[in-house]
Amino acid sequence: MSETFYITTPIYYPNGEPHLGSVYTTTICDVLAQYHRFIGDQTYFLTGTDEHGIKMTKAAAEQGIEPGVLAERYATLFKQVWQELHISFDDFLRTTEPRHKSAVQNIVRKYVENGDIYLGSYQGWYDEGQEEFVTETEAKNNEFKSKISGKPLTRYSEPTYFFRLAKYVPAIIQHIESHPDFIVPVGRRNEVLSKLRAGVDDLSISRATLKWGIEMPNDPQHVVYVWIDALTNYITALGYAGTSETSSPSASAIATPKPGPSGPGSSLFQTYWPANVHVIGKDILWFHSVYWPAMLLSLGLPLPKTIAAHGWWVSGGRKAGKSTGGITPLSEIRQLITTHSLDALRYYLLRAAPFGSDLEWSQEEFDKSFNELANVVGNLLNRTLNMIKKYRGAVPAGNPTEDIDRNLVAATTALPSQIKQAYEKLDLQQVVMLPIELARTANGYIDATRPFSLAKDPNQSARLDTVLNLAAAATKNVLVSLLPVLTTKARDGLKQLGIDVEGKSIEQLFEIQLTAGHTLGEAVPLFPRVEAK
Ligand code: ME8
Ligand code: MG
Repeated sequence: MSETFYITTPIYYPNGEPHLGSVYTTTICDVLAQYHRFIGDQTYFLTGTDEHGIKMTKAAAEQGIEPGVLAERYATLFKQVWQELHISFDDFLRTTEPRHKSAVQNIVRKYVENGDIYLGSYQGWYDEGQEEFVTETEAKNNEFKSKISGKPLTRYSEPTYFFRLAKYVPAIIQHIESHPDFIVPVGRRNEVLSKLRAGVDDLSISRATLKWGIEMPNDPQHVVYVWIDALTNYITALGYAGTSETSSPSASAIATPKPGPSGPGSSLFQTYWPANVHVIGKDILWFHSVYWPAMLLSLGLPLPKTIAAHGWWVSGGRKAGKSTGGITPLSEIRQLITTHSLDALRYYLLRAAPFGSDLEWSQEEFDKSFNELANVVGNLLNRTLNMIKKYRGAVPAGNPTEDIDRNLVAATTALPSQIKQAYEKLDLQQVVMLPIELARTANGYIDATRPFSLAKDPNQSARLDTVLNLAAAATKNVLVSLLPVLTTKARDGLKQLGIDVEGKSIEQLFEIQLTAGHTLGEAVPLFPRVEAK
């Protein structure tokens, strides 16, 4: 049975170039989307840009341009970079698009109608870099500075519409407690719970002193708080609360929208909501695990299944970023792709730390991870192919007879279910480590069985057959399991092994047996050495 899988990135502020942080989140989502397509799930992958608010307004003012001009410039660049990085998104939503704006207004209308919005006045602290309200206690504890950027907080005092957030807190606590997979990793879940239990005020959801935003439908003097505007993207992109003209992805979206599975009349929203996973950085977990569920509950909609919060790329102990500095810029990322390949970058990003932990960029670690790919995976493929070609021409029959054979067969056949589990648990470091481990085992097997010596002894002919066969079978499973990560290299490697990936599910590829006579493609190093600069 094919299932649906809906995955989203945060929508990024287009106030500067994409960088390692946004590339990281987007790549993680792409790997997951590619995996789910490979297992046959009907998959929808959404990304986009969050274009309104004070942060965008200030960034534009600093450059002496209108926020719309800034947004246009960088939204275009984000989309272009994701294409450059072969990100397989199905839709790219910009919050300035009519389809989004009208749907947000319809959603706010529903809140007004169901009594979840009232007029009041806000007095308190605001972190403009995070577009986040900060409580008096939190502000004081941080010496009235942003806990992310260290920049001074701003004092706000203005009339505003409030959303009855406090009313939904008990239901949210209950939901988090009864759904262990709602927030991952689990450590993050406890942080959210204790903050919720400490008490939460209603949420200011409009700004009267800001122009750059979506007008409140009930009071156009106010614009909708940028986070309310932003979070709804996950459903407005699916056509929720849209009109028929505005409900489908705009002509500017790159991929054509997929029709629902049950024919005409079933919208993207019916097909894909609730989302399977919102992948985010831990900086925006509170918005996603508290505000967003409350907003959905108020609409009577089911909550997303999982909010997966990854760690930060840090520099000097702080979150690295556009405003905080220390983040690897787009130019360096492009350079690495040119010298080492896009797949090497994807591999490094997943390999760098267990999902959820903070990370620190290091060229040395990048080189190490590239060498691992070349020396472990690339080498296994190359030596296996070359030996088969030299000694046999095509894959020979294999008959495991010794412990060392059986161990390799066991490791090879265990990999498919291990990979499946790693993906299910979002254990994305294991997703790359497991195949590498098998590749290491297979290399060790070749070293220990010494096919080059076996080839010299005619009495060892059957033994050589077995060694070559089992090495090839292990190599195949290594490459198949890496397909969602090394989208080009794993495909190329499988082609060299005489396997065409096209149209096959990961399960079918795992099941392919390299029986006697299976012919191979041309052997070409997958990860050629990088020329010293
Ligand atoms: O927060 N390490 O947009 P944003 C890891 N528009 N990930 C990082 C990172 C770092 N140092 N820096 C950025 C917003 N990211 C809102 C989101 S969603 C409805 C609205 C990644 O441009 C990470 O995914 O500040 C983080 O959550 C996101 O970029 C924030 O991007
Ligand atoms: Mg940010």
